[in-house]
This record gives sequence, C-alpha cells and structure tokens, in this order.
Amino acid sequence: MTTTLIRGGRIVTAVDDYIADVFIEDEQIVSIGLNLPAGPDTQVIDAAGMMLFPGGVDCHTHMENTFGPSVTADNFHTGTRSAAFGGTTTIIDFALQNHNTSPLQAIERAQSKADCTANIDYGFHVIITEVDKRVLEDMRYAIRHEGVSSFKMFMAYPGTVMSDDAAIFQAMRMVGQHGGMVALHAENGTIVELLIQEALAQGHTSPRYHALTRPAILEGEATHRGIKLAELAEAPVYFVHLSAKEALKHVVEARDLGIPVFAETCPHYLFFDESAYAATDEEDSFDAARLVMSPPLRSKEAQNALWTALKTDDLQLISTDHCPYCLKEGHQGKINQKPFGKDDFSKIPNGVPGVETRMTVVYDGGVRSGRISLNRYVELMSTAPAKLFGLFPKKGTIAVGSDADIVIFDPNEQHTISAATQHSDCDFTLFEGHRVQGKVKKVLLRGQLLVSDDQWVGKTGQGRFVARGEVGKCW
Ligand code: URP
Ligand code: ZN
Ligand code: ZN
Repeated sequence: MTTTLIRGGRIVTAVDDYIADVFIEDEQIVSIGLNLPAGPDTQVIDAAGMMLFPGGVDCHTHMENTFGPSVTADNFHTGTRSAAFGGTTTIIDFALQNHNTSPLQAIERAQSKADCTANIDYGFHVIITEVDKRVLEDMRYAIRHEGVSSFKMFMAYPGTVMSDDAAIFQAMRMVGQHGGMVALHAENGTIVELLIQEALAQGHTSPRYHALTRPAILEGEATHRGIKLAELAEAPVYFVHLSAKEALKHVVEARDLGIPVFAETCPHYLFFDESAYAATDEEDSFDAARLVMSPPLRSKEAQNALWTALKTDDLQLISTDHCPYCLKEGHQGKINQKPFGKDDFSKIPNGVPGVETRMTVVYDGGVRSGRISLNRYVELMSTAPAKLFGLFPKKGTIAVGSDADIVIFDPNEQHTISAATQHSDCDFTLFEGHRVQGKVKKVLLRGQLLVSDDQWVGKTGQGRFVARGEVGKCW
C-alpha cells in the first residue's frame, strides 16, 4: 500500500472551504482532518498557502478524432498530458459511430486508442450519426453494460454527421428510458449550408465568412427544436458549446418550467467575441482560421449573458471542446490542418485547443475578476460535470472515499500563457500572451503525482476508462 499526506492545504469543493490535511491510501482519500500523522513511508506534500481543488473534469474533448479528411492534432497521450498540466484529471471524449461502425464497435475503437496511452482517466460519449433498431439497441446496451451513457448528435453538418429530427427524437426516447442523455450540437445545419454556398458563390472564401454564415439565430432555432424534441421524448437533453443569447434564452425558459435541460459553454466564448474576426481585417486574411470553431464567437452582449448564466446555474458547466488543429500545415507531422481551408473557409477544420488552459483562465477571469465565487468555480470545473455525467462522487470532489484526484493550486502565482510552454501537439493557443494569476502546481490522479512544478513526474499511460452511471439526473 502507498500512502500520501497533503498537509495544510485550503480544501475548496463546490460547498466547502477550509484548511486541513488529506490522507491518501493507494488511489483513494481515506481521511481529512487536522494534524493527521504520516507513516514512515508516507509521501508528504506541503500545501501550506495552496488551494486544493478536486481534479478537473472536462466533459467535451476531441483526442485523435477524425472529422472528414482531418484528424485532431492531439492523440490520447499528448492531449491527456496537456490536460493534466492544466489540472484536469478526467475527460469525456468521443467515439464515432457511422455507417461502417455500430455504437458498440465505436466504443471499442475509441477504447483501443485510449487504452495504455491516456495519462488521465477518461470516458466516452458516442457520436450517433445513423439511427435504426440495431443502433438503438446498442445504445441501450452501452448505457446498461458499458458505462457509456451519453450520446452526441449533430443538428449541423449535413451530408456528414447531421441527424434529422426523427433520428434525434428516437434516440432521445430510447436513452431517456434507460438513464442516458443525448447531447446536441445545435445549429440549423441546412440553412447554415445554404448560407455557406451563397457566400462561396459570391467569392467569399476567407475564414471570417465562417462566422458570418453561422448566425446566432440558427443556434437559437435548433436549441428550441432540440428542447421540444426532448420534451416530447420525455428525456433529459444537454447542449454542447452553447454560445448564443438566442439559444440561452430557450434553455432558461425550459429550466424554469422544470424541463431537464442542461448546457455547457466553453472558455473561448467567455473570453473572446466576434470583434476578433473583424480585427483580422482584410477580406483575404487567413489569420481568422484560428478562430474557426462551431458555433463561432458571438457578441460581447452574448458573452456577458453567458457569465451571468454561469452564476445563476442557467448554464451548468464549462467544458473546453478541445478540438485542436494546427495553424501550420505539417507541424509535428500533422496534415489537413487549418490551411486545408486556405482557399475555402468551409474546408477549415472546425475547432480550437483549450484543455490545458481551462482551469487557469476561468480562475483568473472568473473568480479573481469577481464574476463567480470560488465554490461555484469548483462546481463548474469538476463537481457539476461529474454529477451530470455519472462520475460523482468517485470524481468531482475532495471527500473520504473519492478518488484522490487533486489539484494543488497557487492562487497568487502569475504567469504568461504560451503555446511554447504548453504540452499539446497543437501549435497555438487562443490565450497566447495572456498574463494570468493562479497556477496549477501539482496534480494527483488516484493518488499518483502526475505533475509537479511544471515537470511530468507520473508514469505514462496510466489513465483508466471510467464506466459511468446514469446521466442527466442532477436536477
Ligand atoms: O468547432 C468545433 N466545435 N469542433 C468540434 C466538433 C464539435 O462540433 O464539437
Ligand atoms: Zn459540436
Ligand atoms: Zn466538440
């Protein structure tokens, strides 16, 4: 048995804030108290002056995900290492079902990529692109027997991953009966596609047209439709990467009526707005390719509404949608990255990195700036995603019996974010040059130190698949 004692840290959970020692035996926290004794072989970590947070849970990442001709720049090894440096100890990634793959095969395939390479714990949502009797039965089986209880469906990207309303409704009805939940990418895909074709026909090929062809009203429309389908199916529903006020409004209305609707937003929507596209100026500038994610950045007003909603629990959590593509073709041998859309914005792979910066930028820009409380921060970063996605109380808190996934955080240390000092295989961060206060100093995963003072000290590949329980129940 190995034992670790973390001495004198300020333990912050979603509800508590106090100074105590944490004693860990093997993988779990076994006691919390004052002046706990160390055994002769106990590893002792002095955490005086530090905050202790439960390890971050990021329930929206894309490691080694293939979308069309492009594969995301991080695999499970690099992406989870990057996550750990940022204080995240559990991710929920994606397993893609398509016409060649059943949901259960998709899970198996995703498992084979993560197994022995992931450095933190992980689970999967299955991306469902086709629905029939067999697929529905697989979904039921995945919830009940595989610990995979959430399924992403796209209302956008026609011709590739988009599902029609009937497919979404059938999936919702099935998973709702078995403790699962559908997570929706809500944009009206057919109208977006029409606007894209019109822009291209007029010769508008530069990346800022990505944003101009995905207006907020189409996110609002799809969100409303998704809520109605879920209401009819009597199932909970989760909206990924919510960005628009027009979408938020429907989530708030539904929640006020007691309908189980949940939503996340992402750091890029909280710290950047649509003026960043205009700042890239010229019609033919490719600079805006770094800002090509879906949905795109919205107005400053929308951004303020998102912050308010995080405070009032109209939005339940912050995930990264870490979906990295390099700005430079060939970086680390990656191909079909952002420059793939050099002459046609619709071919730029959609997505931005963020898994390493989430906990720091939200601490600095959320807690320090007075937008959210410290307890709410922990709830958004760790507890709420763990509860909503069936990981709690194994993950998401610092408590006796929980996994010893702990972040030792210095609330006073300042540093400057740069891709050069990050650990992702992606060659940029949206936060390049941002000076922030608050730094992840040490990270433990199930009692094992992974990161200590900017050094990787863990064994590699010791992340484990976490079978999840019922989801969408924290209501
Ligand atoms: O632009 C994005 N969000 N790319 C990742 C895929 C998705 O829709 O989540
Ligand atoms: Zn999406
Ligand atoms: Zn995503």
